[in-house]
Amino acid sequence: MKNKRTHTCGVLTGATVGQNVTLIGWINSFRDLGGLIFIDLRDREGVTQLVLDPKQRPELAPLAQQLRDESVITASGVVRARPEKMVNRNLPTGEIEVEILDLEIENIAAPLPFPLDDDSVNEDLRLKYRYLEMRRSALAANLRLRHRVVKIVRDVFDSAGFSEIETPIISKSTPEGARDYLIPSRVHPGKFYALPQAPQQYKQLLMVGGMERYFQIARCFRDEDLRADRQPEFTQIDVEMSFVDQEDIITLIEGMIARVVEGVRGTTPARPFPRLTYTEAVSRYGSDKPDTRFGLELVDLTPVLRQTSFRVFQGALAAGGIIKAINAQGLGQANRRRIDEWTTTAQSCGAKGLATLKVDDALALAGPVGKFLSDVERQGIIQATAAKPGDLLLLVADKPQVANTVLGRLRLDIAAAQNLIPKNVDAFLWVVNFPLLDYDETDKRYVSVHHPFTSPMDEDLPLLDSNPGQVRAKAYDVVLNGVELGGGSIRIHQRDLQAKMFRVLGISDEEANLRFGHLLEAFSYGAPPHGGIALGLDRFVMLLAGAKSIREVIAFPKTTKAACLMTDSPGTVDAKQLDELHVRCVEPGQA
Ligand code: AMO
Ligand code: AMP
Repeated sequence: MKNKRTHTCGVLTGATVGQNVTLIGWINSFRDLGGLIFIDLRDREGVTQLVLDPKQRPELAPLAQQLRDESVITASGVVRARPEKMVNRNLPTGEIEVEILDLEIENIAAPLPFPLDDDSVNEDLRLKYRYLEMRRSALAANLRLRHRVVKIVRDVFDSAGFSEIETPIISKSTPEGARDYLIPSRVHPGKFYALPQAPQQYKQLLMVGGMERYFQIARCFRDEDLRADRQPEFTQIDVEMSFVDQEDIITLIEGMIARVVEGVRGTTPARPFPRLTYTEAVSRYGSDKPDTRFGLELVDLTPVLRQTSFRVFQGALAAGGIIKAINAQGLGQANRRRIDEWTTTAQSCGAKGLATLKVDDALALAGPVGKFLSDVERQGIIQATAAKPGDLLLLVADKPQVANTVLGRLRLDIAAAQNLIPKNVDAFLWVVNFPLLDYDETDKRYVSVHHPFTSPMDEDLPLLDSNPGQVRAKAYDVVLNGVELGGGSIRIHQRDLQAKMFRVLGISDEEANLRFGHLLEAFSYGAPPHGGIALGLDRFVMLLAGAKSIREVIAFPKTTKAACLMTDSPGTVDAKQLDELHVRCVEPGQA
């Protein structure tokens, strides 16, 4: 390399005065103050002030004329102390400046599509020019944090006797609940590979192969509706172990998480993490990934309102429903518009309505439903919700699943709007005792809550035939601040039970053999008891970085429409390529 730097832009201090140096970097700012030209030169380590005096170096003046912000230059010169009044104590290099003796332009920057330091620039533009966005310190810091997290994770697993093993990307469809990304095969006309939604079956086969302790920083691909914490391709910290039970995995993962938090934050999370059963989480917080940094817990008013004369509540109870409430403390003065907003939210989550009761000074309950309440009911409600004058009670009467979901959602909205969520608190917890199966009303069949390889609890095995919905799973999720960080389970390791599981899920023996024959066969040649977990690396780093979306911790993320604005993908391909793949495109709507 012709121009080799002697220092980065972040290291020259007063102690280096008099040294000859060469720096290379981006022009952070450029000021022509009549006689003198000041350049702040930036690289990832910092910023150094350069000074050019065109009278001293007339041969460099034409070059200096061409300079623009974000151009890359090589500058050689001598370090000198800044005059006392120009010293910048906030900058590590603030005591010095480099007098330019020689200058070379590496690359002139065209006018930028957006100012790099403007936070209000629309995200699409920043995604299109992701490499420019990366020059800003926030994204760069997030990417370095991500590296640090992965490094610690690898060290933790390495020292615990795990091997990182890569599993295929071009593989076969795995049922993790999302749609697959498919790759047409050129060699096998009409056949398709699938990108893995997770390495689930491979890691189990590694256990059958006797590897005992596997982990992988694994790329996963899911064609699903995207949100702030979902990307079509994302990364898991994927783990599988043989000869373990749920406690072993929980202990290992808590230890790993604690090491990461210590390593990047310097604080130690309290352990063991609290645990909630699935039933408790849903009934108290209306969610299987509860944010426990604040209260606003759901209260069951069914016992209090069992004899209610209010027709709407009667109807809900008669249909097997429940009546639940949250006490939005101090929100008794909420105006019509806010109540309408909450009602709309409730309806969008499936509620038929939302009843509101304002608690007045006399502890009367005002609102359209208030007049239907007896004194006993009113008192029961006040006691159950610990209501005080000035509070607002929100009630939903519906099927348990709807009532819990709706209030769980309103709980989060109200906490955010009322600033009830404390900063700098990490609320880790485990949700355990998940149900194994969920009944899908549309398809009229049971579906796995996690995936079909999850082991039922031993004591619930007999229910698999008589009452599948009641079977609990040996499954566990780890949650941080209301975000599902990871999930895993102890697996089925017996062929017969796995085959039966497929049948319970409405998968015929024939189809099970076609899709999972390799796994069933593997389980007939000696399979160890095993279990594991996968944590969303992107989500973990997002929470550690205090970022709002996983896009902020991924170098080249996709939009919520699964597009890459920078490379303009997905894109069209040549007819020849399609021919080779035996694929023909049809216009949407034309079969
Ligand atoms: P699961 O499907 O729960 O389990 O995924 C594990 C974790 O991966 C993260 N995650 C995602 N992150 C970003 N974008 C997405 N689209 C996305 N989908 C999931 C979440 C989630 O908790 N094979 C099982 C694990 C096991 O049983 O061992 C699995 O993949 O943080
Ligand atoms: P209605 O008699 O349907 O006009 O409802 C009277 C009040 O009950 C209104 O404030 C509705 O929002 C509320 N309401 C209706 N259905 C429900 C429900 N399922 N749960 C809670 N409140 C409801």
